[in-house]
Amino acid sequence: MKVLVINGSPRGDRGATAGVLKPFIEGMESAGANVELVNIQKLKINPCRGCFDCWWKTPGACIQNDDMKEMLPKLADSDLTVYATPVYVDGMTGPMKTFMDRSIPLLEGKWELRDNHCRHPLREGTKAGKIALVSVSGFTERDNFDPLVVHMKAAALNMKREFVGAVLRPCAWIIPVAEERGASFDDVIDALRDAGKQLVGQGKMEEDTLNTISRELVPRQQIFERFG
Ligand SMILES: Cc1cc2nc3c(=O)[nH]c(=O)nc-3n(C[C@H](O)[C@H](O)[C@H](O)COP(=O)(O)O)c2cc1C
Repeated sequence: MKVLVINGSPRGDRGATAGVLKPFIEGMESAGANVELVNIQKLKINPCRGCFDCWWKTPGACIQNDDMKEMLPKLADSDLTVYATPVYVDGMTGPMKTFMDRSIPLLEGKWELRDNHCRHPLREGTKAGKIALVSVSGFTERDNFDPLVVHMKAAALNMKREFVGAVLRPCAWIIPVAEERGASFDDVIDALRDAGKQLVGQGKMEEDTLNTISRELVPRQQIFERFG
C-alpha cells in the first residue's frame, strides 16, 4: 500500500504535528505500508489562480510551474493520503488548504451525480483511494477539531476518496514540555503506533486507540495556572 503523508505545519519537522506523525508512520510501516512523508513548508506551492486551465486548456496539468507538478502524480498514485495539520483558527493551515486547492487537476471539469450530489469525476489514472486526518491543537478540548473533521470528510467526498478516520491530539505541544519535567506519555505514543498499524492492516482505527491518543495529558487547571 502506497501512503502519502502531507505535513501541513509551517513548523515542519520541529512541530507538534511531526511529533505525532513519527510513531503513527512507524506503525503504518510496521504493517507493510510504503510511506512517503512530505513537509509542505519545504515546497514552493503557489495558491490556485482559479483559471480552470487544468480542466479545459491543459487537462490534468496546472499552468503554474512549481512543486505541485511533482506532487500531483504522487497524490494520484496514493492508496491512502494522510493530511496532517495543526488546527489554525479552527481549520487547517493555509499551506494545507493551498495544497488541497491545487489538487483539482486530478478531477475532471465535467459534472456527475454521486449520491444525488453534484461532483466532478476523478481523472483517469487517479486512484480512488482513502483519506485520513492527523491533527494537533493548542487548546485542550477535543471539540477544537470539529470544524476541521467536517471539512476533511466533505473534501474526501469531493475528491472521491473514502474518509477512514481522524487521529486527534489536543494540546500536543505540552508533550515535550511535560516530558522534560518527568511525565511519561508512553501509552499515547504506543496508541499512535497502533493506530498507524490498524489503519494499514485493517483499513480503520479502533475507537479505544483513538481515545487514548486524545486523552487528557495534564489537567486543564494546571495549564491555566501557568498561562491564565
Ligand atoms: C495562527 C495560529 C492559529 C491557531 N489557531 C488555533 C485554534 O483555533 N485552536 C487551537 O486549539 N489551537 C490553535 N493554534 C495552536 C496550534 O494548533 C498548536 O500550536 C499546534 O501544536 C501547532 O502545531 P505544529 O507545532 O505542528 O505547527 C493556532 C496556532 C497558530 C500559529
